Amino acid sequence: MSASSGPQHTGRRTFAIIAHPDAGKTTLTEKLLLFGGAIHLAGEVKARGDARRARSDWMKIEQQRGISVTSSVMTFERDGVTFNLLDTPGHEDFSEDTYRTLTAVDSAVMVLDVAKGVESQTRKLFEVCRLRNVPIITFVNKCDREGREVFETLDEVAELLQLDVTPMTWPVGMGGTFEGIYDLRTNRLLLPEGPSREFNGEVVQTTGLHDPQLDAILSADNLAKLREDAELALAGYAEFDGEAYRNGDLTPVFFGSALKEFGIDSLIEALAAHAPPPHALPAEPAPVAPDNPEVTGFVFKVQANMDPNHRDRIAFMRLVSGTFKRGMKLTPTGHGKPIAIHSPIMFFAQQRELADEAFPGDIIGIPNHGVLRVGDTLSERAQVRFTGLPNFAPEILRRVALKDPTKTKQLRKALDDLSEEGVVQVFYPEIGSNWIIGVVGQLQLDVLLSRLEAEYKVGAVLEPAPYDTARWLGGEAADVKAFMDLNRGALAKDRDGDPVFLAKSAWEVGYVADRYPAVKFLATRER
Ligand code: G4P
Repeated sequence: MSASSGPQHTGRRTFAIIAHPDAGKTTLTEKLLLFGGAIHLAGEVKARGDARRARSDWMKIEQQRGISVTSSVMTFERDGVTFNLLDTPGHEDFSEDTYRTLTAVDSAVMVLDVAKGVESQTRKLFEVCRLRNVPIITFVNKCDREGREVFETLDEVAELLQLDVTPMTWPVGMGGTFEGIYDLRTNRLLLPEGPSREFNGEVVQTTGLHDPQLDAILSADNLAKLREDAELALAGYAEFDGEAYRNGDLTPVFFGSALKEFGIDSLIEALAAHAPPPHALPAEPAPVAPDNPEVTGFVFKVQANMDPNHRDRIAFMRLVSGTFKRGMKLTPTGHGKPIAIHSPIMFFAQQRELADEAFPGDIIGIPNHGVLRVGDTLSERAQVRFTGLPNFAPEILRRVALKDPTKTKQLRKALDDLSEEGVVQVFYPEIGSNWIIGVVGQLQLDVLLSRLEAEYKVGAVLEPAPYDTARWLGGEAADVKAFMDLNRGALAKDRDGDPVFLAKSAWEVGYVADRYPAVKFLATRER
């Protein structure tokens, strides 16, 4: 399969899976790839379960950068549609990396564990999707196990996430009594097979819930419950409305089991039929539509030091418009000269492939030596800049202290590099020389220390900082300056030289915001 044989952007679905750890994201990813024919053996996407979450293992995986890169973007085709699945890092702490990946997708699949419903991490990721109106298809996983009542799950999604829900499929029994999945829209019944119902088996086309075929196949109890529940659901929940879904107001809900390969087909079909293809994205001076002939894109992720001997980096660019051809010259807006992209990388499931052509919605890996940064726009004429790639106010701030004070220069270089990559944010206080780093999750701190040591040979310790949070400043220049003149002791610059207010507490942010109503204290900064 080569990119050139693929259809244009209308046949592209660029999406991510969002889930709380353990809900089954890895398993579902494998099965989607398997169904899409991208891999022949499931089980190879990445380490999972306890092994992945054990910190030391996770670091090892991260250090073997090749693994996480090949699984960062997975492309598969089915029935003429090209799916680009972008991996969101799956660890417990949320990281900016995850958020940024969500800026590069057109839709998301939200995986819930049928026994647990909407969990904390799901909710945070959902909020990011909502901020950007990313439409969501819900997949309720592990229906082969005991779970909650279907209605309970549906109502929880509706209430917690403030969304209309439309059940598209319905599980027939659960756990010990699981007998399959009924597709409410196509009236197909998906049956399990094997002595302990472990396989994806026959698909029976019925004429509806009252088809007598069902009496012969399903146990009387399950069938009675299916008929009653499904009828109640069809009457009680919103009808599926493609536009409401694409606006982010409604989520179609599918039930299934990633492990047992149930409901995967219905999910892929729904993505193909309803998920939005690439559309216009906000930019200055004007939004850029995918059919704009000029090649444009933006960098949403950078991975550095994949090979420690070469200090190379891969910038992941989402193509927004035009047809990209290998060897093309693109210019990062605002800085730098045109870069000829001779060896772009497309990410197929198990191997990297050189790309000759790519279309809007595709992701291209661009090897470079640190020129490209997260948030950069690349284009042929350098006259456009994509907006809306957020930096998040850090929730944990630490002072960095060197074990060997002669390494100041190396530390500065490392912090600049790692902040460009989005591992941490770095703030240089106006007064004093102790650099402050900020993260949104604890795990980022461990990654920082380990990478400083391994890749830059800098031993450092992190000390508590006298600050609790940070805010970017916005508003009229004169108002911002007046604030800055009077608060120098609490000011720092971020890596781009933009002023940041370091606050001792969230309360202090509220306090200064009241005192300086003309100044905006921003929890996110858009580049
Ligand atoms: P994650 O990426 O969201 O963290 O979840 P992952 O796919 O790793 O799945 C977490 C655990 O849930 C795994 O079990 C996996 O096998 C199991 N699982 C995933 N989907 C289903 C499903 O549809 N039904 C059932 N019954 N289990 C499912 P584990 O014991 O942690 O790992 P493993 O040793 O089985 O690989």
